[in-house]
Amino acid sequence: ARYIALIPAAGVGARMGATSPKQYLQLGGKPMLRHTLDAFVSSPLISHTYVVVSADDPIIDSIIPAQGVTVLRHGGASRMDSVRNGLLALHGILHEDDWVLVHDAARPGLDAELIERLIVETGEHPAGGLLALPVVDTVKRCVADEVATVARDGLWLAQTPQMFRYHLLYRALDAATDPSMITDDASAVEALGLAPKLVEGHPRNLKVTLPADILIAEMYLAAYAP
Ligand code: CTP
Ligand code: MG
Repeated sequence: ARYIALIPAAGVGARMGATSPKQYLQLGGKPMLRHTLDAFVSSPLISHTYVVVSADDPIIDSIIPAQGVTVLRHGGASRMDSVRNGLLALHGILHEDDWVLVHDAARPGLDAELIERLIVETGEHPAGGLLALPVVDTVKRCVADEVATVARDGLWLAQTPQMFRYHLLYRALDAATDPSMITDDASAVEALGLAPKLVEGHPRNLKVTLPADILIAEMYLAAYAP
């Protein structure tokens, strides 16, 4: 089986509030999405990388690396739709038992070392695996006026990549009915009653969401530059 990367990059970056989608903002002189693609292209374990963008995306062709990346212009209304559309477009191209590593375009701090850790530690786990970080803060739940402290034992923050066999991921996303409940791929697999493996990620693999995240991402990129 091969390891294939699938990168949803069809979002508009509403919370970033920039004039172009956040995946095209410059980080240390390179577009965010190019950092993300370069992580997969530089990994010897990844056979090929597919990036899902909107049908009318005007920028992608000018930023993809010379080799190893194919653009799929099948972006959907939600992240889940973009991933599902990408998988559908790869029907007949990927094998049922190929591993698909789904990774947010907006996580430019990924690198070949973290990709390898995920693949090695997930191994042949039947439910797949994902990078995640143990919660370090004290967590509160506030509903109406009720406030409670949630024990953080066993709590993790999901990152990406999240890797699953092609046939399992497709089945999980096809069965998912409410896209608002499915904010990552693992939750769709969990809804089938399976428990993906959590593999410790790293803070440098943060998701760039708000304007303040740009500065943090640039600091990590500078500190971990290959
Ligand atoms: N994404 C996508 N298709 C969508 C929505 C999101 O491919 N319809 C992608 C984004 O491009 C991003 C990843 O999913 O790489 C994670 O989503 P998020 O961080 O929420 O990005 P945006 O949806 O662009 O940001 P926002 O929610 O603030 O609008
Ligand atoms: Mg979003």
